This record gives sequence, C-alpha cells and structure tokens, in this order.
Amino acid sequence: MASQSIPLPLASPLSIPLLGLGVFQSTKTHSSVLSALSSGYRHLDTAQIYCNESATGAAVAEFLSKNPSVSRSDIFICSKLWEVDLSLPGMPPDFESMAHPPPDGSGAWKTSVARLGFTSYTKEGAIDGFNRSLEAMGPGIDYIDLYLLHNPRPGPTARLQAWLGLQEAVKSGKAKAIGVSNWSKRHIEELIANGEVDITPAVNQIEFHPWCQHKELVEYCQQKGIVVVAYSPLTQGTRLGDPVISEISEKYGKTPAQVVLRWCLQRGVVVIPKSDRKQRIQENSQLWGWELADEDMERITALDEGISGKLGEWDPDAWE
Ligand SMILES: NC(=O)c1ccc[n+]([C@@H]2O[C@H](COP(=O)([O-])OP(=O)(O)OC[C@H]3O[C@@H](n4cnc5c(N)ncnc54)[C@H](OP(=O)(O)O)[C@@H]3O)[C@@H](O)[C@H]2O)c1
Repeated sequence: MASQSIPLPLASPLSIPLLGLGVFQSTKTHSSVLSALSSGYRHLDTAQIYCNESATGAAVAEFLSKNPSVSRSDIFICSKLWEVDLSLPGMPPDFESMAHPPPDGSGAWKTSVARLGFTSYTKEGAIDGFNRSLEAMGPGIDYIDLYLLHNPRPGPTARLQAWLGLQEAVKSGKAKAIGVSNWSKRHIEELIANGEVDITPAVNQIEFHPWCQHKELVEYCQQKGIVVVAYSPLTQGTRLGDPVISEISEKYGKTPAQVVLRWCLQRGVVVIPKSDRKQRIQENSQLWGWELADEDMERITALDEGISGKLGEWDPDAWE
C-alpha cells in the first residue's frame, strides 16, 4: 500500500501522501508516472524546470480515464515555479546548467538570469508562471494540489512578491496549497512576518537523507506545522552501499532503498524517490507493514554529515 497520507496542517482538509514519485531527470516520465499510479502511488512531484509537467499531467489524465474508481482528488500533484520564464524564446538555454548552477554562481545560469532577470519571481510573474504550469498539465487537470517556490535564490523582495502571487493562485481555487523548497528558517520567518502574507507555507521541500539531515530546519518546520518533504531521499543512488544501511537491510530482509525511505518516514518526513524502472518504483513503495526499531533508527541517524553530506548545490542557509 503506497497511499498513506498525513494532513497538511496549514491547508486542512488537504492531505499529502507520504510517498510520491519524483520525476526530476526522468527520461520516461509518462510511463514512470503510470507505473507509479498502478503501484499505488498517489503523489507526483514535478517542476517547471524538469520540463515534464505535460507528461506528468497527461499520464495522470490517462490513468484516471482507465481507472474510474480513482478520482482526481485521490491524486496529489506538486509542481514548482522556476525563477525565469521558461516559455520565453530560447528558454531553457541549457537545462543542465539551469537545474544545477555551479555554487559560485558562474556559468550559463548566471548569464541567462542576468539577461532575462528574475521574471517569474514577481507577483504577476508568479501568477503567470502558476497558470503556465497548470496549462502544461493539460486537459483533465484543472487544479494543482501543491505549488512551490523552487528556491529562495532570487532574494527577499522577489521571494515575497512571488509568494503573494501564489497566494492569489490559492484564492482562485486553482492551487489547493502552496509551499517552498530549499528555504532556510530565516527565509520562512522573514516571509511570514510580512503583513501581506496570510498563507503560511504548507511544506518545505529540502534535500533530506541519512547523510544530510538539516536537523534544526526539520525541527523548526515540524514545530510550525510545515510538512517537510525529502528530495533526493535515496541520495540519487550514491550512498545506498553504506555498510550500516547494508547491515540493517539484511536484518530486516529489505533493500537499502526501502530502509532509507522507511527511516525518512519514521522521522515524519514525506519521501518522493525518483525511478524510471518499474521494479524499483514498486520496491520503493513497499514501506508499510514493518518498521525500524529505535536502535536501528538511531544508527542511521548517526550517519549525518551535516551540510557536507549534501549532494546538490542547494544550501538553504547560503542564499540571501
Ligand atoms: N526541490 C528541489 O530543489 C529538488 C531537487 C532535487 C530533486 N527534487 C525532487 O526529488 C525527487 C527525488 O530526488 P532525486 O531524483 O534527486 O534522487 P533520488 O530519488 O534520491 O534518487 C533517484 C536515483 O536513484 C535511483 N534509484 C531509484 N530507486 C532505486 C532503488 N530502489 N535502488 C537503487 N537505486 C534507485 C534512480 O535510478 P533509476 O531511475 O534508474 O531507477 C535515480 O538514479 C526528484 O525526482 C524531484 O522530484 C527536488
């Protein structure tokens, strides 16, 4: 069973399924989404920058048309606003450098942003960007469950303005909930202190796995009722051979991926592993009906390397 969910406390009565399929760098989004939905997943995580909102929406619509017992409200779709308008001529200029800007801010990403400005992180830009995402999802998808500001990088003024745009998407009924990604405590505090902000982020989607746990940030979000969603929960496959994880896998008769995902869930964090392989999509969904004992949870928690254990370029505290 892959469809257990928890309420989004600040966006009641909406619930977020604890397991979702991530589609970043998916090369066969349509079939992977169909495999996931057939395996019981009820949560999909896409983004403008992944360039597969259309494939995600089309697969959901196809699944719903073939499975009348499942309704649109059973499926939770998340997407994210990128900083620049990807529909502008010539965009995205270089997908890889846009998605993975070098930490020093150099390269094609900087050139593109300097050329175009942060066109989506204004109030109107965010409203337009949200509408583009919704339109990209295609027929059959007439709202998005959760829409995120992909990162805090555009800075405080742009973040606030974009958030005010997302608030309008909620007020129009076209977004059920809104949230943030890669935000630090400081970014969130600054936002919610502003008098124009009347919706608190429902989630903060951050890199989270045993080697990069952002403990203070997770604790802060959970105390505030902000659901933490773990991206790259499988470390993009790079750390699954860890000897502690292998030993615990053998003990429970589970795979390393299942152990790591289960550890995330027991930390109260939602997981969105990506896979383009049907067998792994199923494997990654077998997370219920068993649990890690406290002593094994503690052994995995002790693997934390702090921010140096991160894979990606996003360090929430590094952005203004
Ligand atoms: N908000 C953000 O800034 C942000 C950043 C990164 C990611 N995300 C989201 O989070 C999702 C997940 O993160 P991610 O894609 O970076 O990495 P991930 O889910 O940690 O790992 C995906 C990688 O692990 C492999 N894999 C999947 N299941 C496996 C298994 N059971 N055993 C061994 N290897 C397995 C996949 O290969 P195969 O496909 O070949 O199976 C793929 O190479 C993304 O797809 C995206 O939706 C968000």
